[in-house]
Amino acid sequence: MTATVIDGKAFAAKVRGLVGEHVAMLKADHGITPGLAVVLVGDDPASQVYVKSKGKMTVEVGMKSVEHRMDADVSEADLLAMVQMLNDDPTIHGILVQLPLPDHLNSDLVINSINPAKDVDGFHISNVGLLGTGQKAMVPCTPLGSLMMLRDQLGSLSGLNAVVIGRSNIVGKPMAQLLLGDSCTVTIAHSRTKDLADVVRRADIVVAAVGRAQMVPGDWIKPGATVIDVGINRIDKPEGGTRLVGDVDYDSCAAVAGAITPVPGGVGPMTIACLLANTVTACCRANN
Ligand code: GUN
Repeated sequence: MTATVIDGKAFAAKVRGLVGEHVAMLKADHGITPGLAVVLVGDDPASQVYVKSKGKMTVEVGMKSVEHRMDADVSEADLLAMVQMLNDDPTIHGILVQLPLPDHLNSDLVINSINPAKDVDGFHISNVGLLGTGQKAMVPCTPLGSLMMLRDQLGSLSGLNAVVIGRSNIVGKPMAQLLLGDSCTVTIAHSRTKDLADVVRRADIVVAAVGRAQMVPGDWIKPGATVIDVGINRIDKPEGGTRLVGDVDYDSCAAVAGAITPVPGGVGPMTIACLLANTVTACCRANN
């Protein structure tokens, strides 16, 4: 079997198109422009690339984009004051503080200082609780984008065995909650899981979010399973230079799976599309 390649880039373009239509309607019918503020602390090159890309796409769908850069040695009080200013700004509907933060800053404290209604990352403890109890939450963007691709590929997920490899607060745990919400039988695997290969072999859905390059080989994959690869890892090429790979070994997994997301061009573009969608959702909820 050769897997269907799930085209996250095309799917994300479709989602951004719908977001753009919504934004145009909000402007025309209600005179409201959704606004997204991104706070970037320090000068981590990967974070700068993400933030630039987020800003560009925010503007492309017609929303207001604000970027606040703060020095790597900013005090926690100054960062909290920045978040408070954005909480109080009625033209800002979504706030994202780019992670990771420098070590001297308490990420939990900063994230939980964001107004939960503006928490478009879905990381605030209130949104985590709402999602976990099946209530209306802001849902983290990477798991949301992954779920959208799974539903598009498979239709109903009810009763399927799903394994999520990775237990991060950003991806693994919320992904598991979403799959449970769609009536999957969910296993969360991680670095201490025994017989990981056997656990993965039972899964109809595999979501790999461990941050280890090409960790999942094709012979762990149940024939016909759907593989969502959340990993973005840079590895050296034998001929020199580097390339991006996911957490699964793409070629061997694609030979066995029913469908698979590529890296790049799979989950990554969907994450930003869902961030824009969450911002429109936050704007609509703020204005009823
Ligand atoms: N750093 C890497 N991914 C993300 C994300 O989705 N949200 C935030 N806030 N920081 C990140």
